[in-house]
Amino acid sequence: MIQPALSPHFPNAFAEAVHDGLTHHPQKELPSMYLYDEVGSGLFEVITSLPEYGVTRAEERVLKDHAADIVAALPQHVKVAELGSGSGRKTRRILEALCKKQPTHYYPIEISRTALQLCHRELGDIERISIVGYERDYLAGLAEVSAKRREGEVLLVLFLGSTIGNFSRLAATRFLRSIRGMLKPGDALLLGTDLMKPLPTLISAYDDPIGVTAAFNLNLLARINRELGGDFPLDAFEHVARFNPDARSIEMHLRAKRPLTAHVRAADLRVEFREGETIWTESSHKYAAEEVAPFAADAGFDCAHQWRDDAWGFAESLLVARA
Ligand code: AVJ
Repeated sequence: MIQPALSPHFPNAFAEAVHDGLTHHPQKELPSMYLYDEVGSGLFEVITSLPEYGVTRAEERVLKDHAADIVAALPQHVKVAELGSGSGRKTRRILEALCKKQPTHYYPIEISRTALQLCHRELGDIERISIVGYERDYLAGLAEVSAKRREGEVLLVLFLGSTIGNFSRLAATRFLRSIRGMLKPGDALLLGTDLMKPLPTLISAYDDPIGVTAAFNLNLLARINRELGGDFPLDAFEHVARFNPDARSIEMHLRAKRPLTAHVRAADLRVEFREGETIWTESSHKYAAEEVAPFAADAGFDCAHQWRDDAWGFAESLLVARA
């Protein structure tokens, strides 16, 4: 993601993104990264334990069942960088398996300081691990980690949880190419992708019956109210999850239940909504397992291995940077 230069007009990047997104025609939109403040990250943690949201448990099963295979498929000695460490719970499996084989340097890269602290707490007790966190966006952090390593050191990059699903297929290819650009031949990328599944299953994963995902989505407007002096009437918006068959993604939107006008002081914004008009807040793209290899090839990686969870439909792919 390219961060536009901050215009002196706005107090911070969030304000500028809100201004740009809510004046976007014809579809109003907000970048999904802003869903993850304290409240949003907490709600996402709850989502991962909902019975309807199988993604996280599926990945945990893959990593638990195949940690040894994954480690065996890696070069002799690797340093590990993780893009978006989250709570660190899933990563534990791989790091424990690796640390049995070698003392391991682990570099979580996160824009959230709280997540980095959690990660230290969650993983710091693993024997023979050394953790150095980078409070940066993914590509800036990876560039730094990659630049600091010595001759002959191999890097394993973790990009788990199907976070890649937040990118369009085109943007995902570009992102993988940027990652490839920072790697050397033989470096590896472990990529988690959620797989396509029947629509009713998909929809309830993103529109759960007790409304946690709805709260997660609505928190974005609440956050605008809290941090940017907004006056969005939260009860006038509802959470919508729908499948986009062209993009093969689940889209989350916030839909205005009636015509209304909202203001956001710090974004210098007055914005009108028609009844039924939506703000697009997130996309989660779903992949076919066979799609990952050609997709990776397009970005300069060979898909060396793939491990799947068939109970839910999730793939963990080990991509190796080509010469
Ligand atoms: C953390 C981006 C992988 O897209 O499945 C969960 C976020 N949004 N429920 C996903 C999310 C609504 C999640 N990712």
